[in-house]
Amino acid sequence: MIKGVIFDLDGVIVSTDELHYQGWKYMADSEGIYFDRQINERLRGVSRMESLSIILEKASKTYTDAQKEALATLKNDYYKELLATTLSPADILPGVLNVLSGLKAAGIKIAIGSSSKNTPTILKQIGLDKTFDAVSDGNNITNSKPDPEVFLIAAEWLGLKPEDCLVVEDAEAGVTAAKAGGMKALAVGSAATDDRADLAAADLSLINVEQMINL
Ligand code: BG6
Ligand code: MG
Repeated sequence: MIKGVIFDLDGVIVSTDELHYQGWKYMADSEGIYFDRQINERLRGVSRMESLSIILEKASKTYTDAQKEALATLKNDYYKELLATTLSPADILPGVLNVLSGLKAAGIKIAIGSSSKNTPTILKQIGLDKTFDAVSDGNNITNSKPDPEVFLIAAEWLGLKPEDCLVVEDAEAGVTAAKAGGMKALAVGSAATDDRADLAAADLSLINVEQMINL
């Protein structure tokens, strides 16, 4: 029986994929670095600085740490502007609100486990900042997914053992992290074909709470 469910944020709770892509594209174009949606897929779930390292594989020059910080800030400022001007509760993904209320009604604890340092801003903007029992994110970790740290902290803050928790993820790195942490995994979206998952679906509207709890 599952006692707690830890949700990734980007691509699981809310659709921010396009905004992350636009932010990195803006940065890459300003530097003349080739970047496309296929490369963007590799950024799913990984931290901002690790995402930048992947993009810089296509750069024709090397960058100092200070220059890398400036490029990450350029992307993040653009991304934050997009969040502020376009993100709303309408961007909450299909099935999410039903699953969250169903879990609460069943007495299951719910948490966020996200690599994003923008998690508090995003939760507030989509009206879910008071919904979760714990929020573990890019601001409280030193190792990003596929390291399990963000999920282990979420489980600890819920007062639960990792083996009593289910992680919901849309990223390969996130499924790896859940498994490394000794948790069950429900894979959605881009990760739905990941055969390491205990349960998989295109989106949360196709999953019911009983299926999640009885894993
Ligand atoms: C993850 C996203 O949730 O957060 C990644 O899937 C992103 O694409 C990472 O790079 C870090 O986000 P932020 O908001 O701290 O730059
Ligand atoms: Mg994600």
